[in-house]
Amino acid sequence: MAEPLGTLTRTHSCGALRLEDVGADVVLLGWVHRVRDLGGLLFVDIRDRAGLTQVVFDKDDEALMAKAKRLRSEFVIGVEGRVRRRSPDTVNPKLVTGDVEVVVRRLALLNEARTPPFPVADDTPVSEDVRLKYRYLDLRRPRLQANIGLRHRVTTAIRQFFDANGFWEIETPILTKSTPEGARDYLVPSRVHPGEFYALPQSPQLFKQILMIGGVERYVQICRCFRDEDLRADRQPEFTQVDVEMSFARPETIFGVIEPLMLEVFRVIDKEIAIPFPRMGYAEAIATYGSDKPDLRCGMPIQDLRDLFRESPFRVFKEIVAGGGTVRGVLVKEASAYSRSEVDGIVELAKQLGAAGLVWARRTADGAITSSIMKALGEEGVRGLLDGAGAAQGDLLLVAAGEPDATSRLLGQLRLNLARQKGLLDPNEYAFTWVVDFPLLEWNPEERRYVSMHHPFTAPHDEDHDRLEAEPGRVRAKAYDLVLNGSEIGGGSIRIHDATLQRRIFSLLNISPEEAKLRFGFFLEALEYGTPPHGGIALGLDRLCAILAGEGSIREVIAFPKTANAVDLMSAAPSPVDRRQLRELHITTRQ
Ligand code: AMO
Repeated sequence: MAEPLGTLTRTHSCGALRLEDVGADVVLLGWVHRVRDLGGLLFVDIRDRAGLTQVVFDKDDEALMAKAKRLRSEFVIGVEGRVRRRSPDTVNPKLVTGDVEVVVRRLALLNEARTPPFPVADDTPVSEDVRLKYRYLDLRRPRLQANIGLRHRVTTAIRQFFDANGFWEIETPILTKSTPEGARDYLVPSRVHPGEFYALPQSPQLFKQILMIGGVERYVQICRCFRDEDLRADRQPEFTQVDVEMSFARPETIFGVIEPLMLEVFRVIDKEIAIPFPRMGYAEAIATYGSDKPDLRCGMPIQDLRDLFRESPFRVFKEIVAGGGTVRGVLVKEASAYSRSEVDGIVELAKQLGAAGLVWARRTADGAITSSIMKALGEEGVRGLLDGAGAAQGDLLLVAAGEPDATSRLLGQLRLNLARQKGLLDPNEYAFTWVVDFPLLEWNPEERRYVSMHHPFTAPHDEDHDRLEAEPGRVRAKAYDLVLNGSEIGGGSIRIHDATLQRRIFSLLNISPEEAKLRFGFFLEALEYGTPPHGGIALGLDRLCAILAGEGSIREVIAFPKTANAVDLMSAAPSPVDRRQLRELHITTRQ
């Protein structure tokens, strides 16, 4: 039976009591964490958000003891009692409250609890589906308590930072018109306009640009975005952005805000990071790390080895180079411990990643030279290759050849796999980089047209305007991504503020003037009323918090995440709806 709270008022949290509180009369409220019945004495650890305190029931008060004996894990209780020093043999140095305990005078049983489907007191591994179904219990466990608390502190630091720097937080609509960010929209049918739909925002992109036209100058919003796309550990159908826009901005203006913001955010976890962050061109990132989100914690840059194979007796590579292809390699340092079968395993992994073949050469710890192309190159040739790549004793060189981007992407994945295996990706190291100068457009072979690499509002480099029509694929964008430990935690750009240029870009994207008017007419019109040069960025708050919390999945820092197939296991959404509701919305379904 649940007792009312009545006048019971918490005096301390369960993480507060110390030796100096001995003798004080206190009231604690919380959940039963653990019960230990020693016959004459009953110990209960009571838990709230702040911690644990041991409370004691003494058999001398029979009625109280009888009531206490009913307590089970996760019951909700209030206790009133006096703080006393624990006997030396029961002091618990692992608990901040471990020097004291509360001798209970009065117990209120505020609520009972069914036996939880998994232990709540600790983070015993439990299947994620069960954790998501009983998310309210999972939220009580130490891991999520820590993560959700951290997320709160991070958002607070972010809001304080932007407020101190003159940004206004402005809410933009959730029921809106589709904005293209490359994913599918979630649609909301309109009851009053039969056959018409709102789209949930993939981002507030157009609204924040319109706020600049509206004279806001500095905008920020911690906002929910919705994208119907294939989910992964770092993607959710609804996720949170720290969305930023500034008038009269160059890329450096944005970097100059985001870098000190990151400094503040990392102070939340007591880490001092170094700013400014290094910058890397997109082309360099792809060539050297095989990725536009390079993980810079593990070294191992991809090297161009073409010159070493131009005149090589190894015909396959020589011909690839002659045909305009490339030969690239990665040096795995101190790989002498790899057995021959482990090296074969790496070759196998490369094949699984789609490589036609992978060649290797190594200097063993005792200085001997071996290679999978020893026969073709001879010992001198292999020595030349290893010297050319800078291989020291014990190093293993992995070499692939083919089309430049594909070769680098393959070696990039291989590099990350090996770095992970060798434990080179230290979760306590934070390697930031800005990736800049993305191509404005990329060719989409299915649609047989150019599509925006970021979104169609991104400005081309000033000096590339001339080649927009002639060489669209070579136009660079004033776009930048913020990359941290191989994860894209933010992306943004300087925008097009000139309506004529914006129309030109739409036409390059094969968006006809009629379609542009239909989809973005309001925006094109707004651009003509005195638009200041502007630009911005959006940070993925979930990804940032996951890294800060040392978690591999953003689901661990979201209170109510969805599964990989976009289901909320707790509330069972999505779900069928009433026929009447559908009729009102003018919708019929096909099943
Ligand atoms: P973009 O699409 O790059 O840019 O998104 C910005 C950042 O949001 C995060 N992110 C996601 N996080 C979790 N789940 C998802 N499904 C997901 N999709 C994206 C990433 C990403 O870097 N309007 C532009 C920003 C701008 O130009 O200012 C935009 O939305 O961390």
